[in-house]
Amino acid sequence: MAERVLLRASNLTKRFGALVAVNNLSFQVKEGEIFGIAGPNGAGKSTVYNLLTGVYPFEGRVEFEGREIAGLPPHKIAHMGIARTFQVPQIFASLTVGECVDVGSRFGCPGGYDRAYTSEMLDFVSLTDQKDRPTEQLNLLGKKRLMIGASLATKPKILMLDEPMAGSNFKEIQQLMDLIKKINQDLGITIIIIEHFMKVLTELTKTLLIIETGTEICCGDPVEVTANPKVIQCYLGDAYAEN
Ligand SMILES: Nc1ncnc2c1ncn2[C@@H]1O[C@H](COP(=O)(O)OP(=O)(O)OP(=O)(O)O)[C@@H](O)[C@H]1O
Ligand SMILES: [Mg+2]
Repeated sequence: MAERVLLRASNLTKRFGALVAVNNLSFQVKEGEIFGIAGPNGAGKSTVYNLLTGVYPFEGRVEFEGREIAGLPPHKIAHMGIARTFQVPQIFASLTVGECVDVGSRFGCPGGYDRAYTSEMLDFVSLTDQKDRPTEQLNLLGKKRLMIGASLATKPKILMLDEPMAGSNFKEIQQLMDLIKKINQDLGITIIIIEHFMKVLTELTKTLLIIETGTEICCGDPVEVTANPKVIQCYLGDAYAEN
């Protein structure tokens, strides 16, 4: 049976004044897969998330489960089952860890607040024992887990992670990779991950899209993509690509 396309982005273009941050970009994410996006700094990766989640107006189409979502506001997109985390952790500093995950359920979950599921998700990201602490007291890894927990509390069909490994040491990267695999396999959630670490991408993803200056360089099997001379050239320059 052919795998179902969950999210189809077609001809996305975003201009900030004269700068074309995303340039006629198309890709599709299949149900159940982990889809990677990589590219040099400023390539337009985070902007793609901002387009998919309704932060900015843009040109192009985005179909989610066969329905057009381009032009919808962020809260409607969240209610349809799209959740995301941010490159720099975005959490509510005045709340406790438990309250912060509750916010995901109260505002993002289409069926309204689900106390039991919220506490399950708190547990899923290993923060149950921290639930009464102010969010500010968490370390970076804790804040990332919290952002993921609050996203999961919205009961998403797809979770988009923006550089979840940034600033993490080797052990933390392993822990985050295990968590991402569990989200995908145990909760059955499709994942898009923006990441710089190629080893993480080749281990986690089924499909990898490389972009540079908002344009696709190549897309496909992660091992083949990372060996592609065009990709090596865009990361390391002409001299490496020739060898
Ligand atoms: N709100 C904005 N206004 C103006 N320019 C923006 C805005 N957001 C992003 N840009 C520009 O668009 C380009 C793409 O930025 P984006 O943050 O999407 O890159 P990125 O691939 O996520 O990079 P990084 O790996 O550094 O996170 C950059 O040149 C950036 O300066
Ligand atoms: Mg970014």
